[in-house]
Order: sequence, then C-alpha cells, then structure tokens
Amino acid sequence: MQQAYKLSRLYALLDKNRTPESYFHIRLGSNFPIILDLFERLYSTHPYKKEAFENLIEILINRHLERSEEQKKLDLHRSKNPNWYSSNEIVGMMLYTERFNQNFKGLEEKIPYFKKLGINTLHLMPFLDVPEPENDGGYAVRNYRETNPKLGSMEDFENLAKNLHQNGMNVIMDFVLNHCADTHQWAIKAKNGDEKYKEYFYFFKDRTIPDALEKTMLEIFPDTAPGNFTWLEEQKEWVMTLFHHYQWDLNYKNPRVLVEMIDNMLFLANKGVDIFRLDAVAYMWKDIGRFNQNLPEVHTLLQIFKMCGQVVAPGIAYIAEAIVAPEEIVKYFGEAEAEGNECDIAYNATFMALSWEAIASGNTDLLRKSMYSVPKKPMNTTWINYARCHDDIGLGFEDKLIQELGKNPLMHRLYMLRYYCDEQGTFGRGKRFMQEPNGNARLSGSMASLCGLEKALEEKNDFQIHLAQKRIHLQHAIILSLGGIPMIYSGDEIASTNFYNYLNESDKKHDNRWLHRPMMNWDIAENLEKYPIQKSVFENLKKMISLRKEIPAFADNNDLEFIDSGNSHLLVFKKTDKKGEHVWVICNFSEYETTFPSWFIGLNKNVKNLLTDEQFSLQYQNFIGRYDVLWLTLST
Ligand code: GLC
Repeated sequence: MQQAYKLSRLYALLDKNRTPESYFHIRLGSNFPIILDLFERLYSTHPYKKEAFENLIEILINRHLERSEEQKKLDLHRSKNPNWYSSNEIVGMMLYTERFNQNFKGLEEKIPYFKKLGINTLHLMPFLDVPEPENDGGYAVRNYRETNPKLGSMEDFENLAKNLHQNGMNVIMDFVLNHCADTHQWAIKAKNGDEKYKEYFYFFKDRTIPDALEKTMLEIFPDTAPGNFTWLEEQKEWVMTLFHHYQWDLNYKNPRVLVEMIDNMLFLANKGVDIFRLDAVAYMWKDIGRFNQNLPEVHTLLQIFKMCGQVVAPGIAYIAEAIVAPEEIVKYFGEAEAEGNECDIAYNATFMALSWEAIASGNTDLLRKSMYSVPKKPMNTTWINYARCHDDIGLGFEDKLIQELGKNPLMHRLYMLRYYCDEQGTFGRGKRFMQEPNGNARLSGSMASLCGLEKALEEKNDFQIHLAQKRIHLQHAIILSLGGIPMIYSGDEIASTNFYNYLNESDKKHDNRWLHRPMMNWDIAENLEKYPIQKSVFENLKKMISLRKEIPAFADNNDLEFIDSGNSHLLVFKKTDKKGEHVWVICNFSEYETTFPSWFIGLNKNVKNLLTDEQFSLQYQNFIGRYDVLWLTLST
C-alpha cells in the first residue's frame, strides 16, 4: 500500500503559488488508491460497495468545498508541520462543558482562566445531542449534527471554537463512533421495521448468534449492563449493545454505515474541531469466534477514517481511545506499510495505571519493566499523558510482568484496591468500580482524593496534607515531562476532592465514575488566596506548565529513554531535544527521602534543577526528597 504521510515532503517541493484547491486535488489523487484498497479489503463482495464508495468520494469533495478559507489555511500550515500536536508548547485540559461553566458561552467566558494556567488545548467531553436522562455522560449520541441544547446551538459551538482559535487554542472533541443512542433516527427507523436501517445495527431473532458471539466478548459494565445484547420486547428481537442497553452498536460490516459516519465526522471537522478523540475504537468490529477487541478490520476502518480526513481536512489529528495492552495500542498508530495512516495520538493508559500502582507500592519496578516492554511507536505519533480522566482506572497491566517480579497478579491488584479504597487501608478515598467475583475491580476517585487530600483535610493532619500535595505534584510533573500531550483533568488543578453529590442524582448514582466528575468549584478557583492548599497546587502546576513550554526536550521526538538507576523507588527518564540537549527527570515514588546515583549524567557534573533553579554538582549519591521530582539539565 502507498504511504500518504510522505505528502508533507511533497508539499515542500511544490511551488508556493498553488491554491488550497490544487492541494486538495493532489491529496485526493494520491489517497484515492489507498482508500479504495482499504475499502475493497472490507467490502469486496458487499452488494452496496459501489454505491457506498461513489457516495464517499462525493462527500469528500463536498465537505472540502464547505471548509472555510481559514480552515484550509490552517490545514496547509499543519501539513507542513505534521508533528504539530507533539510540541512541548501544547498543554491540554479535559472538561465537561456543563459541569465546568454551564454552556458554550460560559466556557468562552473562562478563556482567561485557561490562559492564566497555560492551557491551550481543550478536550470538550461529549457535547452532541443526547437522550435524557440516561446517556452515559454524553456517549450515546442521538444526533451527530446537533449539539446538546443545554450547552447551546451548533452556532454557539462554532463561535466558541473560533474564539478559542483566535486565542491560540485547539479543540478536541469526542467522536462516538462505535455506537449511537437507541433514539437516534437510524435506530428509530430500525425499530419501526425499516430494513435499510435495521442493517445499520446488529439484530438477531433469537439467542443463537448472540450466544456464540458472547463467548469471545468482554463485558464492559458487568454490574450495571450485563451481557452484550438487549432484548427489544416490542420488536421481539435482540440488538447488540456492548455498553449500555441504550447504546446500540453500529454495524460497520455495512459500508453505508461507514460512509455516513465519515460524513458526520467531516461535518463536525468543518465546525471547528482540531483533534478527534475516536471513542471506544477497539470494539468496532465483531465476529463469532474472534476476541472482540483490536481486530485487524478495526485498523482498516480507522485507516479509512484517517485517509478521508487527510483528503478533506489534513490539519486534523486523531486520537485512538483504545485502553488496551501496550503491544496492541501501538498498532493504532498504523503498522508496517500503514505506518502514519492511522491514528496520530493514543492514550498512555498503561503508564497512567502503573503510576498509581507505583505510588501504592512505593516502588517503580513494574512501571519500569512495563515501559521497557512497550514497542517503539512510529515517528510523528504521540501519547496523551494523563493521571486522571472521567473514566475509572483499570488495573489492566500485564500479569506476566507482575509474575516475573515474583508477585501474584490478583493479590497485587487486591493490595492496590485495598490501598486506595479501604478507609482503614491508607490515605486513599477511592471506590471500587465494577467489582468481579474474585475481588478484582477498577478504581474510581478524584486525583486529590486518591492522593490522600480528602482524608488529610478531614483529619486536619498538616503532614498528610503536605504528602498529598506532593503526590499531586508528582503526577503532574510526570505527565508534563514525559513527551506527548499532557492532559490535565479539570478540577485537578485546584485539587478537587471526590464529588459525592452524584448520589443524589437518580440517573448517575449507580455509576461511581461520577465521583470524579465534579462541578467546577469557582469559589475556590477564583479566590485562591482564601484557599492556600489549592492555591499551592494551582501555582505549582502553572509554573511547571510555563517551564514545559520553554523546554524543547519535552516535545515528543520519539526520544524518551527510561533509565534503570538501581533504586527501586525512582523513575528516571531522559528527554532529548533536536539539538541534542538532555533533560533528566528523576521522580521519587516513595514517601521517604532517598538518593539517586550520578552515573547516568556523570560524576561531578554541574546540574541545574529547572523546577527550582537550584544548581549543584553531582556526587556519587544525591539526595531526593519524598515524592520529589527533579528536572535536571547540565549547567555551565
Ligand atoms: C469510552 C468513554 C466512556 C464511555 C464509553 C462508551 O470508553 O471514555 O466514558 O462509557 O467510551 O462510549
């Protein structure tokens, strides 16, 4: 297969007088055979193949024509800088518009807040039209062309996006493409027996096929949504619903579905989106007898989405939301000949989960071991580095690696759950999410509560408050320096503790992920001088963000190197910029002071800690405080 990512080089050779339209022709011409080839792989014998493909090409042309001049200019600029999202200058925050400040207009009013902190990339959690009250936090879309009226109109969203762009900010949006709401017009037509739309979903007359499929399907919400199929009493049929009963899986075996969804995505791209977070992609293809995650057909589908996006709106980047094992996640960047033709960004979920494991065990052996086993990712791709998000923390690290460290995987996970969730355990105020019969579970809770702040505040224990702040600082200092897009979870910048009010909302109380989806506390955020603890978390973060933007080594150039310092409490890594300048990041995961050796930098070398400006000469062993992080460079 040809590789389209070389287009950026082609652009450099072309004369400067070309119009955006002529670049479009080049893109369409060079990507056409790739898209066709991918399409054939999935649909070669499908009766709708020809009709769907012709329709797709027409959509690409029309959506391009609809794109604004401003957007086309930005597309060209980014095509020449294909790694723009890997810059050290990018710092993200994810938030629910409504919980942050009511609606799009409210969000716009807070642009100065983001600027103050240094945030320039906003991941707006799902904001499209959804059924009420149940919609899985917006992940059950009723209409891909309308916004949720509570937040404002599509025009309000476009104005918000324009305003953010004028302020040098990027917009990330969720594109929920594995499923839609059971109230989407396609689903309504299907319920009414319209055969065309029944083929948009997976319907079954009896349990024969569902039972066969279930054998190789994971259960995502075993407590609240057991099984992967829902019985429709009126229709007397089963429909596939991997997530909740009201989220119907879209049938990508039907090329019409793929084409409609590409059209929806490009429609939204033209409304001002810079990066799409492609939701729950691992599950997009299912077959009897095959494990329903990460099937090769999923990658083919994503490549078609990406290549069509490249033709119409090449400035847009794509995040794979696939919370899967490291050797599987790197495949979402496109493997072998498809390198560069799939997603540009993926979640560093293994690192995230292991950072919590390392805090609980005060030991980084598993974290380091796992990082050494992550396969290399292609150039021009990057990670979202995060410590918390709207979802639970899955303890999905690899059993084999835990065993190699001489530990029992289940016992180790149970230890972690007890550590974070049991009041008599330690400082954590987490909650178990989707507990299995053997006791294993996932983990909910806000960053501050998991780090011990909630408990320490209740107990008015100054020392524990100090330790909690240090843990929060540790988590933020790492995601800001690891290389990739650091994604701060809204509320964590002011150390928001668990949000127990969700228990009073009937549509939310059964899902404890709402524990860490707080309403933004503007009293704290706007009066930080009255709240010294939150102020220090905010100011620390702000300072680190501004430093990160001045340190080119914190861009992602596929240069990350983990170093085994010989001290199990430490995580050490080296980042290198394009000029060859290094920054060594040294993180102490222990609540006790410890030391780090100098051999990986050099004995007697003069170094500076960029976080404190402190300069010193490296000794054989060097002091590092409890939960401290150092960003070291050589000083002259
Ligand atoms: C993603 C979201 C999660 C949602 C699911 C279904 O995993 O992060 O919150 O429940 O997709 O759309």
